[in-house]
Amino acid sequence: MLTKAQQQGFLDNGYLALPGFKSAADIAALRQRAAQIVQAFDPLQNRAVFSTKEQDRSVDDYFMGSASTVRCFLEEEAFAENGQLRQDKSLSINKIGHAMHDLDPVFDKFSRGPALAALAADIGLQQPQIWQSMYIFKQPGIGGEVRWHQDATFFETQPISVTTFWFALEDASVTNGCLWVEPGGHRGPLRERFVTSSSPSATAARIEPLDATPWPDERTAVPLEVSAGTLVLLHGLLPHYSAPNRSAVSRHAYTLHVTDGRSQYSARNWLQRSSDFPVRGF
Ligand code: FE2
Repeated sequence: MLTKAQQQGFLDNGYLALPGFKSAADIAALRQRAAQIVQAFDPLQNRAVFSTKEQDRSVDDYFMGSASTVRCFLEEEAFAENGQLRQDKSLSINKIGHAMHDLDPVFDKFSRGPALAALAADIGLQQPQIWQSMYIFKQPGIGGEVRWHQDATFFETQPISVTTFWFALEDASVTNGCLWVEPGGHRGPLRERFVTSSSPSATAARIEPLDATPWPDERTAVPLEVSAGTLVLLHGLLPHYSAPNRSAVSRHAYTLHVTDGRSQYSARNWLQRSSDFPVRGF
């Protein structure tokens, strides 16, 4: 699947972009299914706003319960002061998560297959396990920032193995909030971990600082401007970020977070699966 140069590029940079990995038809099917899920969602009953800004965010039952089902989360800026949505519901959703790849046939089809299995093998995921799927809308005008982070913060394994499969469903540019990465930054330390607390309340999770290494800035970060259909692979330690989308154009993307079953998946990770809903590969 990958050339030696591509494999080396992933090792050196901590990320790799594969243009044209998904067809326009594949993307259209996923977008249509996502729109149906949003259509069925009642935003006034489920005021779940998704934010990555608070360092020590308290996580509610709605978020924690999404590990093994399909839920919609709203953009932080979706509501006006009078409590009504500022824009149509279809333009108010931040993301859908987190088990569509196992529960929804359309998402399952997009998320699996021989090409993805071969790719996983090429980057050393011998026993791939897909823990999480997210459909990210990055809505026009209100699409929220996702602050600098490393995905290994959310999927701790011993040794670190989590790899992000990031599919561009629309063209992503600096104008509509594309990813920014720090080339080679995956050789730095894990700065934080997001873990369930040891308190009696099993639903609480928070960010714990681990290392004070600063996040990248304009001098070391580069934008990943990619066209629809591109698959971007991100090493779990690679710092990445995306700016708010203040443009008139959305920036839909779909992500899978995949670990290697040979590593030890932390019991403190927020996302756990029960024995009757086991994690699976490609
Ligand atoms: Fe991320």
